[in-house]
Amino acid sequence: MDGNGRWAKQRYMPRIAGHKRGVDALRATVKACIDRGIHVLSVFAFSSENWNRPQDEVSGLMELLGMALSREVPKLHEQGVQLHFPGDRSKLNPRVAEGLCRAETHTSGNQRLVLNVCFNYGGRWDICQAATKVHANGLPLTEASLSEHMALAHVSDPDLFIRTGGEMRVSNFLLWQMAYTEFYFSDVLWPDFGQSELDAALMAYQNRERRFGRTSDQILSERPDSDKE
Ligand code: IPE
Ligand code: MG
Repeated sequence: MDGNGRWAKQRYMPRIAGHKRGVDALRATVKACIDRGIHVLSVFAFSSENWNRPQDEVSGLMELLGMALSREVPKLHEQGVQLHFPGDRSKLNPRVAEGLCRAETHTSGNQRLVLNVCFNYGGRWDICQAATKVHANGLPLTEASLSEHMALAHVSDPDLFIRTGGEMRVSNFLLWQMAYTEFYFSDVLWPDFGQSELDAALMAYQNRERRFGRTSDQILSERPDSDKE
């Protein structure tokens, strides 16, 4: 969810005002996903590297997480959203970490949309913590055993990755899980993201041919006749 700072700067507002508008954009995007029958949405809210930002921005983001938790969780629960907060909680304020656990437990029975809010998450951290668990459990290190211990083991690998804000990089997001994910880059700053931007990304996705290493002819010959033009 990139571009909050620039969105605020363009309006001569403090960066945190952009982050606050980012929460609004996320709320709208969750609703749009539910309306479109999308079952899983994973967002990158705070990366392992975001601690390197100025102290006041980091504390502002932590405060915003706490505020968003108390304001948004009841509404998300009503909408049937199952919440998860993949990431390293050991460095978070214990009260906030406790709030994340409570929100997860409270919404665990919901089935309409799984929302993963990755917080203090890093793709490399995830691979290392999964490997550590595999090792601690005395299991052989395989693709399957590692996958089962990743922080997003409760959902399948993402079909589509959307990065806003004009940047064309992964920035240590879901490194393991995005082996065959389709990438979509948008210049729109995250606070301006919404239904129409999501639809543009979905339209682009629909025109991709997912071959998973195979040839185009193989994919075409296996499509049901009703799908062939
Ligand atoms: C949000 O956008 C990302 C977060 C870490 C919350 P940015 O804060 O990176 O916004 P820009 O890139 O400065 O515009
Ligand atoms: Mg940025």
